[in-house]
Amino acid sequence: MKKSLVAAGLALIMSAGFTLEAAAQARPAALVKQRQAVMTLHGKYFYSLRPMADGKAPYDAAIFARNAAFLEVLSKMPWDGFTPATAGEKSATLPEAYSDAAKFKAAADNYQAEAAKFAAATKGGNEQAVKTAYSAVAKACDTCHDSFRAKP
Ligand code: HEC
Repeated sequence: MKKSLVAAGLALIMSAGFTLEAAAQARPAALVKQRQAVMTLHGKYFYSLRPMADGKAPYDAAIFARNAAFLEVLSKMPWDGFTPATAGEKSATLPEAYSDAAKFKAAADNYQAEAAKFAAATKGGNEQAVKTAYSAVAKACDTCHDSFRAKP
């Protein structure tokens, strides 16, 4: 009994050790996967509004409000995944995101401010103001992608 408990304890400690090691090794790859997942959701909730923003589909204020609220939260999420430790991973992020981290952060901060303004506009009920704020967010996405994302 005692012996098997010790053996079980040892096995637990060893497997925990292996798990920790595996987690440490997988971390940069996991960070890349997570930041890409957040960006994918940006695409889902932002680009899908474009036909309405461009007047090519009937305007639905409730969908704008919902998506803008999602984006305001999403806009805070990806940035801790862009660490220099991930520079060696395969991704669409250009090396400048790490070598010019101040410019990258400025683009991220500017985007977060525009996302907050967009969410505020959707609460105001003025369609034109919402569309103007949408364009400002789109510009903030593009500004960062132009400098820091490899062309697809
Ligand atoms: C401060 C920089 C920055 C901002 C702002 C930004 N992005 Fe990105 N985005 C990136 C980078 C860098 C990548 C490449 C990520 C990677 O592969 O590591 C990316 C990737 C993506 C992708 C591809 C995700 C995938 O499947 O791999 C989509 C879609 C996307 N962004 C949409 C958006 C939208 C929509 C906005 C604005 C609402 C936005 N992004 C704002 C930097 C930014």
